Amino acid sequence: MSKQKVIIKNETQIAGIKEASRIAALTLDYIWQYVKVWITTEELDHICNAFIMQNGWKSACIGYHQYPKYTCISINDTICHWIPSKSEVLKDWDIVNIDVTVFKAWYFWDTSRMYTVWNVSKTALKLIEVTKKALEIWISQVFPGNYTSNIWYEISKYVEKLGYSVVREYTGHGIWLQFHEEPYIYHKAQKNNWTIMAPGMIFTIEPMINIWDHRTKLLKDWWTVKTSDWNLSAQFEHTILVTEDWYEILTLA
Ligand code: MF3
Ligand code: CO
Ligand code: CO
Repeated sequence: MSKQKVIIKNETQIAGIKEASRIAALTLDYIWQYVKVWITTEELDHICNAFIMQNGWKSACIGYHQYPKYTCISINDTICHWIPSKSEVLKDWDIVNIDVTVFKAWYFWDTSRMYTVWNVSKTALKLIEVTKKALEIWISQVFPGNYTSNIWYEISKYVEKLGYSVVREYTGHGIWLQFHEEPYIYHKAQKNNWTIMAPGMIFTIEPMINIWDHRTKLLKDWWTVKTSDWNLSAQFEHTILVTEDWYEILTLA
């Protein structure tokens, strides 16, 4: 059972959140045109940041537990949190996750999606499709009165039937006045977690799906997470509001 309280937002707060909630998604729309062979992940990072700042927002990543860049850009067998670098160049066949978290006036939004660079294998395209569908299935589990643990249950059923696996070490998370807060959305079965969704909760859903083995490997930079078997991994993430009767995706452009 989680001990910290989930903060439920009132109507005025929710109106403010909705009005201001599109920038993270717009950044991901905008960066699409730059995801091409030869660009470095550091260049992509800077372009995202320039766009975020032009819109009067800030990246929440830089400085977060000493994270050194504005976004996370994770390629192929990297699951998440790859630090953009000037020595990392996009290549033909790459699949790329760009994860942006922005904040303004103390509100945070977090979203990520997959991009493909030129030719991509059928295997990779299928993984991306399955991961996207996984996020949709998770989102369909968001409604007041449902257990947050059912989100994981439905996804793993779908993904594992296809022979893929769900990464277990990371979670979706409440997000609003802090980057990561209650309720955490676990990516594995949990004993005694009976958190129930209620209107006014805001959290992310962010499945990371591996082609084969679910296990992960943390690199020496203490951020970059890779698949243990070097196979591909994909992720999509949205920030979702639980409404009176259902849900609303806050990170759509
Ligand atoms: N955006 C990631 C998430 O979905 C967290 C990144 S932490 C950072 O929760 F410091 F690397 F930005
Ligand atoms: Co997140
Ligand atoms: Co994120």
